[in-house]
Amino acid sequence: MRFPKRIRLARIPTPIQRLERLSSYIGGPTIYIKRDDLTGIGLTGNKVRKLEFVLADALRKGADTVITTGGIGSNHARATAVAARQLGLHPHLVLRGQPGPAPDGNLLLDALLNADITFISREEYERRDEIMSQMAEELRKKGYCPYIIPEGASNEIGVWGYVYAAREIIQQQEREHLPEFDAVVCATGSGGTQAGLLIGLRAYGRKWPVYGINVCDDARYFQKRIGELLEKFRERYHQPTYVTEDDIQLIDGYVGEGYSRSRPEELELIKLVARLEGIFLDPTYTGKAMYGLVDQIEKGRFKEKQNILFIHTGGIFSLFPKRATFMGGPDVGEFYDDGK
Ligand SMILES: Cc1ncc(COP(=O)(O)O)c(C=O)c1O
Repeated sequence: MRFPKRIRLARIPTPIQRLERLSSYIGGPTIYIKRDDLTGIGLTGNKVRKLEFVLADALRKGADTVITTGGIGSNHARATAVAARQLGLHPHLVLRGQPGPAPDGNLLLDALLNADITFISREEYERRDEIMSQMAEELRKKGYCPYIIPEGASNEIGVWGYVYAAREIIQQQEREHLPEFDAVVCATGSGGTQAGLLIGLRAYGRKWPVYGINVCDDARYFQKRIGELLEKFRERYHQPTYVTEDDIQLIDGYVGEGYSRSRPEELELIKLVARLEGIFLDPTYTGKAMYGLVDQIEKGRFKEKQNILFIHTGGIFSLFPKRATFMGGPDVGEFYDDGK
């Protein structure tokens, strides 16, 4: 594929590891994990891969300021703020939720980066794109050159991050003599990761099914959203995607108590993976996705002889605001966020 311009921000390639102990504990297929939680410290997780392409576009357009949005504990907002500072840009974040007395998790890092933060309500979040446009307009009047990045950087530019990752996975599979994967599984929150993986895997001839485990909304919502994303990608880059509608596969049913809300069994699984593998999943995305994967294995969707690649998309900082919940206290959601 012809990749658009990219700036290097992520520590890649990230390793693919075999989860020996978890796989044998479950007694099912062999689970491999793509460690995209190792893309950096401040830049840990999947967002930095998308930002490599989105911020290249921002710089090309002469931006000096970036505006983006997400929940109060957004990994994407934090990664954008970190990347912005690394590039000498000013970050503006529009976050859904109300801050508590002391920031925690990603929000603490946003504060340390001295990002400009505007807190909005759940209702206002419905109009987030409009709010960001107004903010950009005001900044333009003051002489700045703002660039808006949508929620999750999941637009047709950001998608390239996971097309690139798919190519990386295939190269590793060949070089490291890894098996053909019977399935790739990721958490889906805004759809960009799943869309990019699909485009990349199909473009490089891999028919592996990609299952997104949605952590909010439902399967129908993401089928539509990912379909639209693929369409925009085709239009903008004039490249075929070789992805059919049937390729967009969601495994629904693991939103649980709601976005960023945790059930005790999800937190138990996070502890199990930490204890068996020394790997930290997060409560909002990868913990729910891994919980879904294990549950689906138990329900027989995946067979013993199969090889599954789980994409660890990061999120470690969201563990900290959950400290009381991990200790058996009530669930606080995404640190005072009222969810979606
Ligand atoms: C840690 C983590 N995993 C997974 C996702 C979901 O990725 P996407 O938004 O591309 O669906 C996100 C962000 O939404 C995330 O922060």
